[in-house]
This record gives sequence, structure tokens and C-alpha cells, in this order.
Amino acid sequence: VAAQTVSVERADVQGLVARGYGRLKEARFVLFRIDHPAGARDWLNTLVPMLTSAADEPEYRAVNIAFTASGARKLGLDHDAVGRFALEFRDGMTSPHRSRILGDRGDSGPERWAWGGPGNPEIDAVLLVYGRSKVALAETLGRAAPRHGGVTEIVSLQTATLTALEHFGFHDGISQPAVEGLTPRCAPANTVKVGEFLLGYPNEYGLVPDRALLDSQADPGGLLPRRAGRADLGRNGSYLVLRELVQDVPGFWGFVERAASGGRSEAVRLASKMVGRWPGGAPLVAAPEHDDPTLGDHNDFFYHLADPHGLLCPKGAHVRRSNPRGSLAPEPGSDRSIAIGKRHRILRRGRQFGTWVSPLVPDVDAPRGDDEARGLYFICLNANLARQFEFIQHTWLNNPKFDGLYDDTDPLVSTASTTFTALAEPFRERITGVPSFVTVRGGAYFFLPGIRAVRYLASLE
Ligand code: HEM
Repeated sequence: VAAQTVSVERADVQGLVARGYGRLKEARFVLFRIDHPAGARDWLNTLVPMLTSAADEPEYRAVNIAFTASGARKLGLDHDAVGRFALEFRDGMTSPHRSRILGDRGDSGPERWAWGGPGNPEIDAVLLVYGRSKVALAETLGRAAPRHGGVTEIVSLQTATLTALEHFGFHDGISQPAVEGLTPRCAPANTVKVGEFLLGYPNEYGLVPDRALLDSQADPGGLLPRRAGRADLGRNGSYLVLRELVQDVPGFWGFVERAASGGRSEAVRLASKMVGRWPGGAPLVAAPEHDDPTLGDHNDFFYHLADPHGLLCPKGAHVRRSNPRGSLAPEPGSDRSIAIGKRHRILRRGRQFGTWVSPLVPDVDAPRGDDEARGLYFICLNANLARQFEFIQHTWLNNPKFDGLYDDTDPLVSTASTTFTALAEPFRERITGVPSFVTVRGGAYFFLPGIRAVRYLASLE
């Protein structure tokens, strides 16, 4: 049987779904509140021709835009239309139920956030602007920013110049799912149906969920694509998660150095076990003894054959939890297990902020040891927030009973203290009182519409 090929309407998909704009090293994410819908719609109308699509391969600049549920309402979508979007999106990231799922409590509780929390101004839209250089970014911001009122800038999140590293000092941005019909091909076990990331296409269940379909009268101008006689506001759109995660880099390295008590090389070994890859990126299952620069981007590996018990890569390591690669019960390594894993993938599109202080990173920008906050503007894309982003965060990262562990949560990104277990022959190593190294300081759920859908939103009255 010939494999079904999906034809993705690339020119209607915002580019961030297809690529992380790795050539555009500078970025800024600007969060807006809509005060006057008419002014906001004028702005959107000027913005639409500037939007970067998945058909483009930008070398100089890129611009994308996404909206929260409140933003969609303020632009003029009626109650019924907003109600056709996913509940998680309508609820927002900070409803008590979602905070419980996400583990946003204590210092990471939304009431303490700098933006997006209940005490902060409402966020209606995020403008994502990228540039090849600082000049390109400034110039693009100047063009894309609203000029005529109607929207107020709430926060402008300036990213650090893109490098291959995250702040603890590890190679990041290695593993992504390949998206069928959209991104370059890769091994079948890592290739996921486009409907997992874009609305309006078949997903890993073979279904096209009925989300965000409007009665055709809602679109008299015929701006939106049609599906079964209805106007498809969701088609070519994706849900976007944005979270500001502050990383305590001195705290992390201070802790691993004390816990490993064997100097820098033992500390690096322990930190790598917590990540599941060495600082250079080599996965522990493939390079158990030491870092291996030739495996820095290696991503074609599994856990169930090489390392069923977590002797090489601990079961609690961040990358093993966030993508268990078919190693979970009841049938580790089976086709079924791989297939189930494909229902819980995300496209990661985050960028770092702040200056570097990791002992693994030579500092080029600023003196070390300053008090400035640093971390990750975590961004991910998915078609189903509950089944993808929230599931990974709740059932895999924050779950103390993960894959035979009973008291450990993710040692790298948990927002509460935890235990970390690394099996080794002949003893297992169990480190208790691992503090939290990451604090959430803001966040929101957005919808990144197809470009025709942005034009539709700009045309509402
Ligand atoms: C500040 C917080 C975080 C840091 C420092 C961090 C760091 C890393 C590093 C170093 C890698 C390995 C590089 C790679 O495979 O691309 C990685 C992979 C990954 N992370 Fe995180 N991460 C953070 C937060 C999160 C969160 C909140 C999630 C999801 C809810 C997440 C999901 C993933 C996934 C899915 C992978 C790829 C795993 C794989 O496919 O093997 N990360 N992260």
C-alpha cells in the first residue's frame, strides 16, 4: 500500500511551525494587550503581508503572531466561536486546575509571576520577531510594531543571541520530531503526523479533530478555508506555549559539585546523568563513559534495548522523561509503545535570555556572578495542549512515579525539590534533597493561526 502523503498548505502556515529560525540569531517576543479592537485590527492588517510562512526560508528576518483566548474575543470572535477552541486554551495557563497540572506553585505560582499571572495585565497577543543581526531585529521590530494605538505593549522579552547551548551549559536544540509533509525526513520512529502540530490534518489517531470550525455565515467574505461546508478557522494553526523559566545556574553547579564530591569532572558526570546527554550533546546511552564530540547531534537511539533498566541513562534523566522513545511499560520497545509515544511529542522553539555564567561556557558578554536573571523562554507548539505539552510536563516530568521510580521528579526542571536516582553496578546512587533550579516567572497559552485566519481575525467587526 502506498504511504499516504499529506499536502501541507505551507504558504498558509506560520513559519515557526516548520523551523526554529536557527539562522536568525536575535529574537524578541512582545506581549500586547488589546485596548481598542478597531486599532488592533488595523495593526493586524498591516502585519499580515509581513508574516513569515512555512514556504519561506528567511535569511534576514521573520515575523509571526499568536493570540490568547482573550485576544481572540477582543478582536471580535463571538462566544460560540471561541468555544470551539480547546478548553485548555480557553481556560488559560493560570486557572487553578492547570497550575496543579503544570506544578506552578510556591515560588513558581502565577500570583508571583512578572507577566501572565492573575495580578498582571491581560495578555492578548504575542508578536514573535526574529532577525539575522541586532540591526535586522531592530529594523523588523520598527516595521512590525503597532503604530496607531489600540494595543499596549505589556512586556518585551529580549532573547540572548542564539547559540547551541542552554544556560546550565549543555548542548540544546538537538532532538525534535520530524513532521510528515513539513520538515526534512528522518527515521520512522521519530516521524510524526502533521496533525499532531497543525489543526485540520490527520493526527496519530488517524483523526482530524473537529476544532475551530465555524458556521459558514461567520465568514461571508470566504477568507477562511472550507471543510464540510464550514469555515475552518483552525486549519494550519497550532497552539503555542510560552513560559519564562528562570534558571539558577550557580545553584545548579554548586549543588552537583557538593553532591558529586569529586571535583569538576565528577560534577559534570552527575549533571550529565540528570540531563541524559553530556554537555557536548552525546546521549548517555551511546556514550556512557565520557563525552564524545562525534555524537553531539546524535538522535537515532532508543533506551529499551541498550539500557532497559537505566544503568547508562538514568530513567529520571530529563531527556529520557521528556521523550522515553518507546521504553515505557507495558510493552517497552514494541511498535505500540513507539506509536503511543508519538502522541506526546512537541516542537520546541524556545530561546535563552540573560548572560552566561555556567562554568562550562566561556563568558563573552558580561562579568560573571551578577544578579541578573537568566534562563529559557520555553516555547513549544502542538495541536493538543492537554495530550502533548501538559501530558509531558505532568505525567512524565513532574510525576514522582515515573517508569518504576517512586519519589523522583525531573531533576533539571522541577519547580519543587526532589530525589534523583541513578542506577549503577553494584550500587544505586540516590541523591535526596535536590533543590529546584528552575522558577516559572510568566506564561500563557496562545493560538498561532494560519495566515488566512489572521486575515480573518483582522476583518472582524
Ligand atoms: C529551563 C528549563 C529546561 C532546560 C534547561 C532544558 C534542557 C534540555 C536539554 C539540555 C535537552 C537536550 C537537548 C536536546 O535533546 O535537544 C533537552 C531536551 C528536551 N527537553 Fe528540555 N529543558 C528545559 C525545559 C523543558 C520543558 C519544560 C519541557 C517540556 C515540558 C522540555 C522538554 C524537552 C524535550 C521534549 C526534549 C527532547 C528529548 C528527546 O527527544 O530526547 N524541556 N532539554
